[in-house]
Amino acid sequence: METVNQLLDSIKDVGRDAVRGGYSRAVYSTPELDLRQWFIEQAQQRGLDVETDRNGIIWAWWGKPQDGALVTGSHLDSVPGGGAFDGPLGVASALAAVDLLKSRTTAPKRSLAVTVFPEEEGSRFGVACLGSRLLTGAIDVDKALNLRDVDGNTFADVARGHGLDPRHVGPDQEALARIGDFVELHVEQGKGLGQSGPAIAVGSSILGHGRWKLSVSGQGNHAGTTLMADRADPMVAAAQIVVAVRDTAAKQPDARATVGRLTPVPGGTNVIASRVDLWLDARHPDDAVTAQLIESIYSAAREIAASEGCTVTLTEESYSDTVHFDPGLSRRINDLLPGAPVLATGAGHDAGVLAGHVPSAMVFVRNPSGISHSPEEYVADEDASAGAAALADVLEGLL
Ligand code: GLV
Ligand code: MN
Ligand code: MN
Repeated sequence: METVNQLLDSIKDVGRDAVRGGYSRAVYSTPELDLRQWFIEQAQQRGLDVETDRNGIIWAWWGKPQDGALVTGSHLDSVPGGGAFDGPLGVASALAAVDLLKSRTTAPKRSLAVTVFPEEEGSRFGVACLGSRLLTGAIDVDKALNLRDVDGNTFADVARGHGLDPRHVGPDQEALARIGDFVELHVEQGKGLGQSGPAIAVGSSILGHGRWKLSVSGQGNHAGTTLMADRADPMVAAAQIVVAVRDTAAKQPDARATVGRLTPVPGGTNVIASRVDLWLDARHPDDAVTAQLIESIYSAAREIAASEGCTVTLTEESYSDTVHFDPGLSRRINDLLPGAPVLATGAGHDAGVLAGHVPSAMVFVRNPSGISHSPEEYVADEDASAGAAALADVLEGLL
C-alpha cells in the first residue's frame, strides 16, 4: 500500500524535459509508455484485472467488468514541458483510493474500475481528449486515424505500432455502458482554492473550448537579397495576428484566446518563410460567443494578411461545448465532502467528454498559485493526501 505521494514520487523521473523543464510525456512516447506500464504493474500489484480496450484506454478492474460500474481515473500524457500533477495526480489518487477502500471493505458492492485515457492533452495529434472522444463517438474515426504528429506519423500508424487495430478504433458502446458513474480527480488549474481553507473542491462545469489552425501564406524568399518593400512575409502577418487574438479576446468578458504554438515553414534564420501556421485555443462559456469571437479573429487575420501581401485560412481542429457536470452525482459528492466548495474550470478533461453520455463529475485538489501546464504546477503533499482520502470517501459513498 503506497500513498499518493509515494506513487507520484516513484514516477518523478519519467519524462523529465531537460530543455523545456518539467515533463514531456506525449502519448505513445517512451515516457508515456513507461507510465502506462507503471500503471499496469501498480494495478496488478493491487489485484486489479487490467485490460486495454480498442481505443487504448486502460481499465483496471476491482470486481468483474460489468455494466454500470463506478469508474475513476485520468491521464498520464502531458503537454510539452508540463507539470507533475496534471493527469498523474488523478491516476495516482485513484490507486491510493483503491488501497484505502481495500482496507475498509473486502469486496466492492459494484465493480470499480480505474482508467487511464490516452492523449488527453492533444499534445501529439492535436485533438485533446482523443481517447474519450473515440470511445464516445465525439470524433469522426477517419478524421482521428488521419491525424498526424509533427513528424508526419498518422494516428493510425502510431496506434497500430502500439498494438491497436485501426479498424476497431472508434465508438465503443459496450465499454461506455460499463461506466455507471465517472469521477475524475484533478489538480486545480486556477486559483479557485485559496492558500488556507479547504484543499478539495467539487467541479461544476467546464468552459466551452476549441482549437483552430490559422495558416498564413506568403512568398518564401532570401533574407539578404529581398528588399523590405518587396516582401510578402507571413511571419510579419502572424505576429500581428497574435496581437489581434489577444486584443479581440480582451474585449469579450470571460473569453480566453491563446496562440501557444506557431510554426514557420520552412523555418530558417536566413529564410523569409513561405507559410506560418498558428494554433489558436479559444474558450468562452457561451458557445455562440465563441463562434463570434473566432469569426472576429478570422476577419482581423484576413485584413492583416492582405495588408502584408499574404493570404490566410482557418480550420477548426476540435470543439467542445460548455459542459455542466451531472447535478445529481455532483450533489452526492458534495454531501460526501462537506465543506468542499463548488468550482467551475476553464480546463478541458475526459470527464467533460464523458459527461455527454454518462453521469460524470470532478474533484479538484488545491494548486496554490493556480499555475498549470507549466513546470511550476504544484500540489503540497498534505493536499495530495487529502485528495486521495476524499476520493476514497467519494468512491465508498457511491459504490
Ligand atoms: C487541457 O488541459 C486543456 O484544457 O487544454
Ligand atoms: Mn492539461
Ligand atoms: Mn489534465
